[in-house]
Amino acid sequence: MEKEELKKLAGEEALKHIEEGMIVGLGTGSTIEYTLRKLGQMVREGFKIKGIPTSIHTKRIAKEENIPLTNLDENPIIDVTIDGADEVDSNLSLIKGGGGALVREKIIAFNSKRVIIVVDDSKIVKALGIDFPLPVEVVKFGWTSTKKTLEEFGCEVELREIIHGEPYITDNGNYILDCDFLRIENPEQLEIDINLIPGVVDNGLFINLVNEVIVGSKQGVLTLNKEKTVV
Ligand code: 5RP
Repeated sequence: MEKEELKKLAGEEALKHIEEGMIVGLGTGSTIEYTLRKLGQMVREGFKIKGIPTSIHTKRIAKEENIPLTNLDENPIIDVTIDGADEVDSNLSLIKGGGGALVREKIIAFNSKRVIIVVDDSKIVKALGIDFPLPVEVVKFGWTSTKKTLEEFGCEVELREIIHGEPYITDNGNYILDCDFLRIENPEQLEIDINLIPGVVDNGLFINLVNEVIVGSKQGVLTLNKEKTVV
């Protein structure tokens, strides 16, 4: 099966966990887009939910699909959030932010009763940081100093660019510094330490936020949770 088919498999499977009347956190990325497109179809057939998007990109897709939207101020408790990830380890800790939406994604996940992650099996790793650099959102002011401080953690740091020389700007008006650690030994501590640097808004480590990971694999859909793996 092609990668896109595995993403679709996982993205659509997550919809089985959404019930009528729920407030649903809508993640960002190409895997969750499969969830959004199918959810749009369900909504058009009369299924009633309200979504809270994690990015301007997702808000645009939700509007195209006529998915009713709300926000955290109106609905501070989210029933379930479905989102993608860049890496998932055996503790269901994640690296997120490949799509640049990590700050809003973490706020939405933190305020959700349940968080479900959808990925294809290439995202499952032995240790975080192996395949994907850790995105860190920083304010523009003093960003080169923030970059130097991040380098003291032993990683190679690059300013994310959309095209050569043109920095990527997040939905919050900030920069992203991609930090290549090769391997992150202690993600729990690193999440805390990075967020203590002045100028850092948040980083893409998601620790103890996830309830289940739905994995699209050649063997079918696997569901990982902390207690057991269900095939
Ligand atoms: C956006 C994210 C995405 O969820 C993550 O990058 C996965 O995206 P995709 O499903 O396209 O691989 O964290 O900030």
